[in-house]
Amino acid sequence: MTDLVELAKRRGFFFQSSEAYGGVSGFYTYGPQGASLKERVEETWRERFALAEGHMQIDAPTVMPEPVFEASGHLDGFDDMLVECAECGESHRADHLIEGATDIEEAESLPTDEVASLLDAHDIDCPSCGAPLAGQPVDEFNLMFETNIGPGTSQTGYLRPETAQGIFVEFPRLKEYARGQLPFGVTQVGKSYRNEISPRNALVRTREFTQAELELFVDPDGDEPDVSSVADVEVTLYPAENQPEGDYVETTVGEAVAEGVVDPWVAYYLGVATEWYETIGVDFERFRYRQHQPGERAHYATDCWDAEADVSAPDEAPEWIEIAGYAYRGDYDLSKHGEHGTENFTVFTQYDEPKTVERASVDPDMSYLGPEFGGAAAEIADALAALAERDRAAFEGDEVTVDVDGESYTVPTEKTGFEFAEETEAGRHVTPHVVEPSIGIDRTVYTVLAHAHEEDEVDEGERTVLRLDPSVAPTDVAVFPLMDKDGMGERAHEIATTLRGEGLDVTYDDSGNIGRRYRRQDEVGTPFCVTVDYESVDEEPETVTLRERDSTDQVRVPSADLASVLADLRAGETTFDDL
Ligand code: ATP
Ligand code: GLY
Repeated sequence: MTDLVELAKRRGFFFQSSEAYGGVSGFYTYGPQGASLKERVEETWRERFALAEGHMQIDAPTVMPEPVFEASGHLDGFDDMLVECAECGESHRADHLIEGATDIEEAESLPTDEVASLLDAHDIDCPSCGAPLAGQPVDEFNLMFETNIGPGTSQTGYLRPETAQGIFVEFPRLKEYARGQLPFGVTQVGKSYRNEISPRNALVRTREFTQAELELFVDPDGDEPDVSSVADVEVTLYPAENQPEGDYVETTVGEAVAEGVVDPWVAYYLGVATEWYETIGVDFERFRYRQHQPGERAHYATDCWDAEADVSAPDEAPEWIEIAGYAYRGDYDLSKHGEHGTENFTVFTQYDEPKTVERASVDPDMSYLGPEFGGAAAEIADALAALAERDRAAFEGDEVTVDVDGESYTVPTEKTGFEFAEETEAGRHVTPHVVEPSIGIDRTVYTVLAHAHEEDEVDEGERTVLRLDPSVAPTDVAVFPLMDKDGMGERAHEIATTLRGEGLDVTYDDSGNIGRRYRRQDEVGTPFCVTVDYESVDEEPETVTLRERDSTDQVRVPSADLASVLADLRAGETTFDDL
């Protein structure tokens, strides 16, 4: 990690922000290379998860009022475990300290008192000053950043901790754009904020980060994914029950569904995601989908599989990080916003043909129930209504008995106003369930860099290279004059301008010897370099050399064909060997 973070800073991928003022933990700035890499990763995500799937995109505010997070459960439940050192006052994630000192892999699924006992039992010391943490309380710390909206007695707001809530709260309007037709998906790429207790590992744990999320709204009783379109995609699964033994399951999406290992909707997105990870250059030898343990799941999830990548350097111990979560959120979010909000968070789904349904109802005679049962009368009436829906046979006799707060009450059937009728229904109100691929763009960018980062030996000697896939490399091509004289500089400028006009991201470099210039481009992952030399300016038709980053091989290409050759190489329609 250290080498990569050093390279990232030196070559303009990312660095800690506000360093002129001492920096602040958990905030990073993407430099010129990194901003371009990140944008390209986001773009490929949009193409695969929004455009190819036919889903909508929205862009909601990052600040939302307090009631949103009361409803979503984040005010109560979005906590991490905090332990403070009595000696130096530094705060730490207590569950991470336990994971570092024991074989426990997911300590966040344990209760806080157990984590506190483990800190004692394992004599865990403060990572900052070395003082013992034994006896220190472990508290739940809410990760949301609070803010005031407006001056004076202002309204409390929070910076969103996930982009998802911006989609859920707009559901009443979004369902109209979808013409009330389930399933439909809404995507959003944007910033999220979490006041992490101990930000660390550069882009991996920051306090401001970018998420790319899809919320797919489905009818739980009718909609099914088209698993066949990704059935053959190979995946490495790490189911919850296999984790104690450390056993992976190498399978395909189709088999995982057939064997009931993964919910079909979640499995569908594991397939889509795997195809996407492949296009951006994730190394599947260092990648797995790990199912959450029951105690580890977020408050809204009924199942969740994390995409995890090993980002350790070669020959070092594995360092697994979560880069995305693929969760089944059920109807948790829409039900909660339906209860707390003022709008309707259900969808009316129309039947193909109207249906005749039998409906039982009661209309209790309160002038009888009141005097007879006093204060319990209203609850008895509710209990009769519930019983009618559940068990109409209970009303066949002369008397009906219901339980209220553990006590039985018997009511003559004629006083219940029981009725049974047939009705015609055109459809039903459904609270959609939510399937959610939640991708952390920064951790994905970090993984792409870590998996592309290599030290190798080439003719020019040792080099550092980023073997970035051309689809995400920040620069498409670098153009050099062999020397800035005899017309080579002018011609190289013209070629760079032409390639820019074709929509390519081009770097021009005429400083230092040519080997050094190649090395600079290898370090930032530029897949191809073009050199204008004496042959280029002296001979007709004009040719230039085209060098491939990975093999360092070179071929001569007619300048007139350069743009189309580069476009074909980038799209994978030609290989360098073909040339
Ligand atoms: P962790 O357990 O590592 O804190 P999480 O389970 O809280 O992560 P989720 O809530 O599932 O993460 O968020 C979805 C995705 O958002 C994560 O997979 C990750 O890629 C990204 N993410 C979450 N927190 C951070 C952070 N502090 N910095 C960078 N990315 C983050
Ligand atoms: N939206 C899922 C998450 O951020 O955890």
